[in-house]
Amino acid sequence: MQNTEPNKLETIASLCKRRGFIFQSSEIYDGISGFWDYGPLGCELKRNIKESWWRQTVRLREDVVGIEATIIMHPAIWKASGHLDTFSDPMSMCRDCKKLLRSDHAWDIFADGDTGGAMADLFAGGAPDIGRVVAWIKGRGKGVAPNLAAVKAPDASIPHLAAGLASVTSSRDLYTLLATPAGATAPTRACPHCGGDMTEPRPFNLMFKTIVGPVEDPANVAYLRPETAQAIFAQFPNVYATARQTVPFGIAQMGKAFRNEVTPRNYTFRSREFEQMELEFFIKPDEAVELLCGRVITLADNPDLATISDAWGWEVWHKYWVEQRKAWIISAGLPADSFVEYWQKPDELAHYARACVDIEYAFPFGTQELEGIAARSDFDLSQHQKHSGKSMEVFDEALKLAANKLDDTAKAAFTEKVAADWTARGKSADAARAFVARLFDGKYIPHVIEPSSGVDRMALALLCNAYAEETVTDEKGKSEVRTILRFAPNIAPIKIAFFPLVKNKPELYAKAREIFSGFQRRWNCFWDESGAIGRRYRRMDEAGTPFCVTVDFQTLDDGTVTLRDRDTMKQERLTVAALKEKLETILD
Ligand code: GAP
Repeated sequence: MQNTEPNKLETIASLCKRRGFIFQSSEIYDGISGFWDYGPLGCELKRNIKESWWRQTVRLREDVVGIEATIIMHPAIWKASGHLDTFSDPMSMCRDCKKLLRSDHAWDIFADGDTGGAMADLFAGGAPDIGRVVAWIKGRGKGVAPNLAAVKAPDASIPHLAAGLASVTSSRDLYTLLATPAGATAPTRACPHCGGDMTEPRPFNLMFKTIVGPVEDPANVAYLRPETAQAIFAQFPNVYATARQTVPFGIAQMGKAFRNEVTPRNYTFRSREFEQMELEFFIKPDEAVELLCGRVITLADNPDLATISDAWGWEVWHKYWVEQRKAWIISAGLPADSFVEYWQKPDELAHYARACVDIEYAFPFGTQELEGIAARSDFDLSQHQKHSGKSMEVFDEALKLAANKLDDTAKAAFTEKVAADWTARGKSADAARAFVARLFDGKYIPHVIEPSSGVDRMALALLCNAYAEETVTDEKGKSEVRTILRFAPNIAPIKIAFFPLVKNKPELYAKAREIFSGFQRRWNCFWDESGAIGRRYRRMDEAGTPFCVTVDFQTLDDGTVTLRDRDTMKQERLTVAALKEKLETILD
């Protein structure tokens, strides 16, 4: 993905470090790649994101409950889920510089790095002729990509380059041509760092391994969870037995996940340790809905997504959750036009998935996945039933009664209809018949819709969206650039900053402390008594604080304070009671 605003991410990262949002992990030891720490403002931002998600996904619903599972679980879980066998990225190593990289990221790394820039320069003014290319490989190329075949043996490469240039239309083509030695039978897979020859891609499993107990034996290997979702599936029978919920209902979890990403990139976007917020929303299979309701509502029926119906099929539930997720993203402060829905094409879907939508945000480095909403059929629970030998079925009395109302002919017709439908989808007719027989007994394994989001990606998107620079001119005509984070008030790390106008007047100072303490009980507030008021405002603008309150001499006379709005910079005087009422309306 091409870096669309190359400097913006660096500017934001620099602000994040300066203001205490995000620090490199273990920085005093030169850092550790792919790991990030959140400072005082960053941890409040993340907490607000998580609290908002939890409130909207769990607390405000009667059909979703939460769990908090361990990070290390029985390794059999990862066998059943498929992570042990297939959770991998293609990895290559450069035979020259020995760097390891994710093969499918090679051109992104190239585009974002010095090599891509140097190739683009060669294209300035049109496709380069052999003279410019030869000058480049004998000059600048030695510093930029010393292991390109043409840079290593410039004179021997000239005829081969002259012949190949005719088919070069992009900087990638040119880079590949320069990397491929004369006489080679296939183009070289060029290392984006040095131009060397990369090995064939090999799958690299992303799960971090650890040992449980004191004995370093393969039998004691366990894994740090690469997603929070699997614990929800593994605990499904316990939650179902205790939560007094019936299908459809959801189980939510948020927490740490770990992936040994081959090339962690783009600041916190692809980290090795991150947090997820995941919901598994269990629904009836469409066949059960049909038995119970006599029909299945699909998207073709243009259903009203604001009114949940017993007759909704998986397609409608999936769309419902896409809309729910979008509403939450907007409520957290990302404008509707800053992200897009990407509906995966049939050939991109996992074999068990019926549909998957990625919500993609326009990050400065390109439009990339913020979160995903997948319709995963009954794959996960079925896998755990198969591998654990424990039943993942639910029993639905109403379903059994509905089936009992059918006579044998109707049952046979229903069974064959399902068998034909399954066969059309490449599934076994016998499996369909066995499934229908269980349905007639009122039993089925629930299907699932999975909205899965990343806290860190959301935090990064919110930071990118909130960042702004604007030129402001004061009453004396002096202009300056103010940097501002325009967070939505509900997500802003600090809600209100309190400033005593001066700190050397005990009565005024005490009054300001008193007002501050009253608000601090309710919202995250910040006390700042140092520097000119204007400078204090600027610091809070950079922290994204929506409101600043100044307590001055007039406060002692009439009990009013000055409220300053971050975005408009407008100030108004109001009583403390009116201030509280106003902020309640906005912040709660
Ligand atoms: N259970 C499904 C699942 O884990 P995923 O698309 O692999 O799906 C879901 O991950 C979300 O987790 C992503 O959309 C993203 O927000 C976040 N995420 C995944 N890998 C990440 C990484 N390496 N760094 C930061 N966030 C990540």
